[in-house]
Amino acid sequence: MDWGMKNRLSRIIKPKDGRTVMLAVDHGYFMGPTSGLEQLNCMVNPLLPYTDTLMLTRGALRDYINPTIDVPIVLRVSGGTSIIGPRLLHEGTVVSIEDAIRLNASGVAYSILVGAEFERDTILGMTQYIDEAERYGIPVLAVTAVGKDMKRDARYMSLASRIAAELGAHIVKTYYVPEFEKVVESCPVPVVIAGGKKQPEEEALQMAYDAIQAGAIGVDMGRNIFQSTNPVNMIKAVNAIVHKNATPKEAYQVFKAKKK
Ligand code: R5P
Repeated sequence: MDWGMKNRLSRIIKPKDGRTVMLAVDHGYFMGPTSGLEQLNCMVNPLLPYTDTLMLTRGALRDYINPTIDVPIVLRVSGGTSIIGPRLLHEGTVVSIEDAIRLNASGVAYSILVGAEFERDTILGMTQYIDEAERYGIPVLAVTAVGKDMKRDARYMSLASRIAAELGAHIVKTYYVPEFEKVVESCPVPVVIAGGKKQPEEEALQMAYDAIQAGAIGVDMGRNIFQSTNPVNMIKAVNAIVHKNATPKEAYQVFKAKKK
């Protein structure tokens, strides 16, 4: 692995403990003005002090984020379908590698749909992007979305994650499932979990804790943070689990803490 690739990976995954709190606010690329992100900058700015890496789209980065921020960017570079269209997540490349470099991305994110009708298109799209990104030392985070008829279980997540890693992804993002250690053990690159739909805060914190205990190196969480009743306290609580090994109970106290 070359110096640039290693350096970018260590911006995304903190070298002090090998973990990361990635804040995912890229939902607009297929969901439009997602609840909580209507004014993306107003939501994101107070969360930045507790964010190791910010994952978002090219447009959101340019239109809402101050270029002087000191938080590395993972840029969403796949897309092309919407939540109201007929082929959700049948994605292709939507940002060139040149623009990712121009935007100073520390990494890029590409979705693949293992097991779905269009798995071949999405997987070949990702591998082409990996070839281009590796030319410039930019890591690729594979987003393993769940195919329509696929079960959300450890067997499927292991299969999708391992395929992504074997095809060259540098980090894999997947969903937490029971027996998650099996997913992590069979995946040779670091694994982070998405949060998924909004859950009660206690449950989301428990899920983050279970994922870390099972070997995930962090979270790439969105709605469970920005749709929380208290997004700042929620990201602080997630941060405590990821970086301070807080228990779900301790993290919930962080979430409940009153402003001093
Ligand atoms: C989905 O593919 C998007 O990349 C989201 O960023 C991802 O789902 C993580 O967000 P959430 O925690 O809201 O699921």
